[in-house]
Amino acid sequence: MKYDFTSILDRAGHDALAVDVPASYEAPFDVPRKEGFDIIPMWVADMNFPVCPSIQQAIAGRLQHPAFGYYEPRKEYYDAIIRWQTVRNHVCNLQQEDIGYENGVLGGLLSAANILASKGDPILVHSPTYIGFTHALNDDGYEIVDSPLIKDENDRWTMDYADMEKKIIEHHIHAAILCNPHNPCGRAWTKEELSKAMDLFEKHHVYVIADEIWSDIMLGGHVHTPVQSVNDYARSHTVALYAPSKTFNLAGLIGSYHIVYDPWLRDRMNSETKKSHYNSMNVLSMYALIGAYQPEGYAWTDELLQVLTNNADYACRFIKKNFTGVSVSHPEGTYMLFADCTEYCNAHQISLDEILHRAYQVGVCFQDGRPFHSSDCIRINLALPFSRVQEAFDRMQKYVFTK
Ligand SMILES: Cc1ncc(COP(=O)(O)O)c(C=O)c1O
Repeated sequence: MKYDFTSILDRAGHDALAVDVPASYEAPFDVPRKEGFDIIPMWVADMNFPVCPSIQQAIAGRLQHPAFGYYEPRKEYYDAIIRWQTVRNHVCNLQQEDIGYENGVLGGLLSAANILASKGDPILVHSPTYIGFTHALNDDGYEIVDSPLIKDENDRWTMDYADMEKKIIEHHIHAAILCNPHNPCGRAWTKEELSKAMDLFEKHHVYVIADEIWSDIMLGGHVHTPVQSVNDYARSHTVALYAPSKTFNLAGLIGSYHIVYDPWLRDRMNSETKKSHYNSMNVLSMYALIGAYQPEGYAWTDELLQVLTNNADYACRFIKKNFTGVSVSHPEGTYMLFADCTEYCNAHQISLDEILHRAYQVGVCFQDGRPFHSSDCIRINLALPFSRVQEAFDRMQKYVFTK
């Protein structure tokens, strides 16, 4: 490989929630760690690889100029997004005016919710549910209506269209969130699945907020289907949210964007996002995106996907072979694994808390699945050098999922 996906980054003391929270024994990692076990961060959704070099170069280049006054995003910023969306997602005819800066995907999601619903209104989401949706919607006064994903005969998570329709009718729902690919379940929704959902939304006049922050992280050759691409209704009734933050590990720099094609929806969105006066881009974040979406960023991402695919394959195989009673659905996108420990807990008469404690005691910091609206599940972040993934699963076998 041309880029470095094997060095073990020491993130301690470098502003990293991933290691700082477990190191300080803050909740939920509030059990003592045993001597001799370093922290393996497998929880919050960021990565443990050095960034693509063109990002640091772009930021360093800008730092050479000694003024950081008010500014307008440069054309290069929009051109970089249009090129990325065209090449990676086969998006057609994306124009600068369709793109708008968002100070975080969750901020954009709430702006979209504000124009599509009133406070207290129900919004449809799937469960398991990304914890950020739950917090954001609750904090901003919306009612969450869950439609549980169900597993098909191949252990693949699928949408339950009958349940979605029932909930839409019962609750008079006119706004839905689609997480594509789905965090934490790892499904990369197909065109057929998205079209079916869109037919339902069109039938009941439901607008869609498409969170596609994970769209670049496609495993094992799966391809991303942008929600807006599936039909005309989807193109004109969807606020799509994207960012380079998951792909290039830039969450600490902040910087996302929306794509909205319909002029009415776009005007409503732009008006809403302006009103708080908080939604301004940081100049270094703009250069980070421009640096990421350079030719080097395309090549770096291709290598990243090979590394993550290998990690996911290894983890799924390891669990199937060694952890009786733990089941996983192989992720198609994201670098998360959502593992169901119900049978293991029942067979060994232990609680999920005990699993979490055993893991934290030996430095394996994965995440409690309950805040994702799923009992007895854990979410495991696999964006680490392969040697760290191996070490984590060895520790789990020896100390957590014991026979
Ligand atoms: C599906 C999803 N949406 C949004 C976010 C957060 O995005 P931001 O930090 O840009 O608000 C995450 C972070 O993990 C995520 O997984």
